[in-house]
Amino acid sequence: MNQDQLKLAAATAAIDYVEAGAVIGVGTGSTVDLFIDRLATIKSRIDGAVSSSVRSEEKLRAAGIRVLDLNESGPIPVYIDGADECTTNKHLIKGGGGALTREKIVAEASEKFVCIVDTAKIVDVLGAFALPVEVLPMAQSLIARKLTALGGQPVLRQGFETDNGNVILDVHNLKISNPVDLERKINQFPGVVTNGLFAIRGADVVLIGAADGVNKIS
Ligand code: 5RP
Repeated sequence: MNQDQLKLAAATAAIDYVEAGAVIGVGTGSTVDLFIDRLATIKSRIDGAVSSSVRSEEKLRAAGIRVLDLNESGPIPVYIDGADECTTNKHLIKGGGGALTREKIVAEASEKFVCIVDTAKIVDVLGAFALPVEVLPMAQSLIARKLTALGGQPVLRQGFETDNGNVILDVHNLKISNPVDLERKINQFPGVVTNGLFAIRGADVVLIGAADGVNKIS
């Protein structure tokens, strides 16, 4: 099976977590795109979706799924999203698609975060994937210096603006032995909107598309 087939297997398995009559939280990325395709086939069973990005919002609407603002939805029973890296502790790096801030907000608003990945995303230690940090443009150089002092090598994501009008610094070569501490530390720098570590609030369930089926960590 190729990686797309593994992503599809995880995305399909996530449909079992969709609650009838409820609003569902929907993340961003190619795995989530496959989930939205599946969600479209059962759209009459849900009340609507809260999206973590303009990209997913457009795809949901095109599929005929009602999109709600988080301020009108209230708490969300289940949030489905992918990840760039995932440990067996359900700590994640996210933000490869640049939607990390809204993803973190919707995850926080959700009772259960179901993360859908393929085997290639499972790691022992986070950090081989450069850690995305969303930064207000005026703080870009300041934050780059702070991240360098932490031992990382920040690189500005060229030609990219987040849905919130900010920039992304992708931080290479960080040794992330304590993701909870590092998530807190980076978020404390004034000018950082958030970083792509999802460790303080990690996933609750991880569905891993694998050659032998979908494996679950919960
Ligand atoms: C977007 C994300 C995505 O979940 C992450 O990049 C994984 O994407 P894909 O499913 O395309 O591999 O965090 O900001």
